[in-house]
Amino acid sequence: MTTTLETERLLLRPFTMGDRDDLHHILSDPQVTATLLDVPEPFTLSDAADWIRYAQDGAVNGSLYAFAMVAKHDAVLLGWIDLEIDSEHRRGDMAYWLGQPYWGRGFASEAARRMVRFGFETLDLNRISAQCIASNIASARVMQKAGMRYEAALRHGTRKGEQFYDLHIYGMTRADYGEEHGT
Ligand SMILES: CC(C)(COP(=O)(O)OP(=O)(O)OC[C@H]1O[C@@H](n2cnc3c(N)ncnc32)[C@H](O)[C@@H]1OP(=O)(O)O)[C@@H](O)C(=O)NCCC(=O)NCCS
Repeated sequence: MTTTLETERLLLRPFTMGDRDDLHHILSDPQVTATLLDVPEPFTLSDAADWIRYAQDGAVNGSLYAFAMVAKHDAVLLGWIDLEIDSEHRRGDMAYWLGQPYWGRGFASEAARRMVRFGFETLDLNRISAQCIASNIASARVMQKAGMRYEAALRHGTRKGEQFYDLHIYGMTRADYGEEHGT
């Protein structure tokens, strides 16, 4: 994938192996992984390399559009945002995270809005959804600010260690997007 997306403060660009150490550093922080699903703990350098290859392969076969979230002014890697594609049903499922020092500055919301536009206008999706652990208020807010609405709870939908957590599902359709953007 050669696509790079732009927002006011961010570049969303493809991952390269040069991101491995920064990716490893961010996902070695338990504060970041506490609310993430399916991240191996501990997260090793080899895991980081696997994730980059997974992102690159996904872009080739169209199953995953994963972008490095990078600050425009200094090119620092802030985090990850992706859309996992179910092409049969023209659905995309979004996931994102940032290094802890970059939280609370609106970066995730800015990136998520751009990904929604990419999903509907470029990938021609019909539905975009995302999910978070019920207590992850910041993530729920990111989804709402990107145009998604709360749809459902999956009680004990995920497990971290020995603990089960409820998952909240948010989503929007192409029609919702069109209403908001006049497309
Ligand atoms: C969730 C996460 C991506 C949010 O990123 P962010 O860039 O800090 O989010 P934003 O700055 O765009 O904030 C989004 C909204 O959440 C609110 N918010 C941020 N942190 C919050 C918190 N701890 N409690 C409640 N609301 C919070 C913000 O105020 C903002 O809402 P507002 O614009 O109405 O004021 C980031 O905290 C993160 O990476 N967490 C760890 C990984 C994770 O949970 N990823 C999501 C998995 S589903």
